[in-house]
Amino acid sequence: METVRTVAELRARVASWRRQGERVALTPTMGALHEGHLSLVRLGQANARRVVATIFVNPTQFGANEDLAAYPRDEAGDAAMLEGAGCDLLFAPPVAEMYPPGFVTRVIVDGLTDVLCGAVRPGHFDGVAQVVTKLLNQAQADVAIFGEKDWQQLAVIRRLAADLDIPTRILGAPILREPDGLAMSSRNRYLTPDERAVAPALHRAIATAAASIAAGADPADATLAARAAVLDAGFASVDYIEARDAATLRPIDRFDPGRPARIFAAARLGRARLIDNVPIGTGG
Ligand code: PAF
Repeated sequence: METVRTVAELRARVASWRRQGERVALTPTMGALHEGHLSLVRLGQANARRVVATIFVNPTQFGANEDLAAYPRDEAGDAAMLEGAGCDLLFAPPVAEMYPPGFVTRVIVDGLTDVLCGAVRPGHFDGVAQVVTKLLNQAQADVAIFGEKDWQQLAVIRRLAADLDIPTRILGAPILREPDGLAMSSRNRYLTPDERAVAPALHRAIATAAASIAAGADPADATLAARAAVLDAGFASVDYIEARDAATLRPIDRFDPGRPARIFAAARLGRARLIDNVPIGTGG
């Protein structure tokens, strides 16, 4: 697997594959790869002959008090994992290649970016929208794969690709979970053994809430009960646990089986802020 660091090299590789009639999948990441990321590569392989992974710890999506400097970085280890999974090309640009002097353009996806995680992390999804728009335009792949664990991010990316006529098809990859239900995440490595034992309570609580809402419970009651269960289990605080429409992310006050909806959660445990989401009913 070759590693390239400039947009020109990325474009040249992708163009030569496309000239040979080969479909190309893009799997953007920030590195610190785990099995969940490799499932994105595998979904890419199921949809295209060639898979390009990107590793770029995007500074514009981190807030001033967030973990940009401390974000785990291990490009050599990540590259070995990608190569083992059969990835064809790694694009790992330096910051100056993505944001050269003079760069000022921003991408604002109104309505979807200031709720849930966006309310707690102002500007985060503006940075995601900015870098993903660039990556999609740089790679010009046939499909791009994003994990469903950050469902809000996926909803933002689907919206911006549709609104800006970006021809790359956006595909969501199902959440990969540990055997006890904890969603795989680069941030799980921040958990101490005791915190790791508490962490699956988040998924348990939202799965219980989803089942009771699907059976007719009031979403406000069910999500309040989930919040209490997460705090009882030992989480330090809950940023949100809410039932919302899967595409518009608007709150729902009752479940309509004809409209996909999900429970969204973010909660803090030790140094980690964990996020998760589950469908309500079968269609979310
Ligand atoms: O989900 C991530 O790892 C990042 O937000 C992404 C999509 C690679 C953009 O930096």
